[in-house]
Amino acid sequence: MQESDIREKFEELFGQLPDVIAAAPGRINLIGEHIDYSDGYVLPFAITSRTYAAVRKRSDRQVRIASVQRAKTVITVNLDDVRPGFKGQWERYVLGVLWALKIDQGVDVMIDGHVPLGAGLSSSAALECSVAIALNHLFSLGFDLKALARLAQMAENDFVGVPCGIMDQSVALMAKPGYALLLDCRDLTSRDVAFDLASSGLQLLIIDTQAHHSLIDGAYAQRRASCDSVVAKLGVQSMRELTLDRLEECKELITDNEFIRARHAVTEIARVLDAVRALESKGFVELGHLLNSSHISLRDDYEVSCPELNTAVDSAISAGALGARMVGAGFGGSAIALIKESQSQEIIRKIEISFESNGFKPPRFLTSLPSQGAQIIQPAR
Ligand code: GLA
Repeated sequence: MQESDIREKFEELFGQLPDVIAAAPGRINLIGEHIDYSDGYVLPFAITSRTYAAVRKRSDRQVRIASVQRAKTVITVNLDDVRPGFKGQWERYVLGVLWALKIDQGVDVMIDGHVPLGAGLSSSAALECSVAIALNHLFSLGFDLKALARLAQMAENDFVGVPCGIMDQSVALMAKPGYALLLDCRDLTSRDVAFDLASSGLQLLIIDTQAHHSLIDGAYAQRRASCDSVVAKLGVQSMRELTLDRLEECKELITDNEFIRARHAVTEIARVLDAVRALESKGFVELGHLLNSSHISLRDDYEVSCPELNTAVDSAISAGALGARMVGAGFGGSAIALIKESQSQEIIRKIEISFESNGFKPPRFLTSLPSQGAQIIQPAR
C-alpha cells in the first residue's frame, strides 16, 4: 500500500493526532458500463491508488476540513449549515457523507488523495468512502458495507447533486485484492471473481486520455432519463427484465433513441456474465472480444465515448491488444486495453503516436493489480 504522511500532516495543522485514519481506493470497471442504475451486473476492481481520510472528534459543532494537497486552506463549517444545496467545492463530498450518516458532533477531517482526478477512476467515490468508513468506525455506527455504499451514493446524489449509480461506492468498499467484484446492482449481492492476468503473461493497460469534457453531468442524467422512460413505457421494473427479443417486439412503443440506449443496457448486462465465464475459464481472447463489443455499444448505441477514447481503443487494438474499451461515465477519462505484457512498450508507443497525429494531449499510462477495498488503517484510540 502507498504511504501517506497524513497522521503527521493532521497533527501539524490541527495540533492533535487524529482518532482514526481510513483509506478507500479508486476503481476500474472491467465491463458492465452504464448499467448500475438499470439494475444490471458490473465487474469492477479496486486500483492501488487510494484516498486517505484522517478524522478527530471535536467537542463542539464545528467541522474543519483540509487536504494534504492544499495544505494552507482549512474550510470551517458549522454542522447546522450542512444540508443539501450547500455551496462549495470538493469539501461537499466530505460534508455530504457527514450529512448522510447523520453525524451530530463536530469533527476535524484531513484528506490525502492519490486517485488521479478527472481520469474516470472514481476519485469521488474513494473520497466519500474513505470518510464514510472512518466515521462509521469512529462513531461506532455499525453500518455494513452495503449500507455504507448506499449512504455514500446518497451523499453524492442528494447532497452534491450528481446522479451517479451504486457501482463506484460498492467497489471502493467491498473489493478484495486479486479479485474483481461481480456486483448485482439490484440488491448489492456480490461474488469475488479471481482476476489474475499476470500468470497468463497478460496485463490490463489503463490509458488516461487526459480529456475532460464538461458535458458529462448533463449527458449522464439524460442517459438515465432515457432508461427510466423505456422502463416506464414498457411497464417493467428495470432494463434487467428485458431481452433483446422483447425489446425488438416493443420497438414501436419507444423512440429510436430510447431503443438504442436500451439495446446497450440489455446487451451489456449479458456481456458481464459472459465476461465472468471467460475470466473463469481463462478465455482471454473471448474476454477481449467482449471488451471490444462493449466499447462499440457505448460508442454507437449509448453515445458516451469521445474522439480521444476511440483513438485510445482503436490504436490499442490495431497495435495488438486482445481487446479494449472506454471505462467509467465516458466523454473523456480512461480506456483499458487487455494486452500481452511483452507488447506493452510497443502498444504504448503506438497509442502515443496516434494521439500526437490527432493533435490530442499526450495520454498517461498506468497499470494496477486488483487491490483492497476501504480499510481502517489506524483505529480510534
Ligand atoms: C460513473 C458513475 C457510476 C456508473 C458509471 C458508468 O462512474 O458514478 O455509477 O454509472 O459512471 O458505468
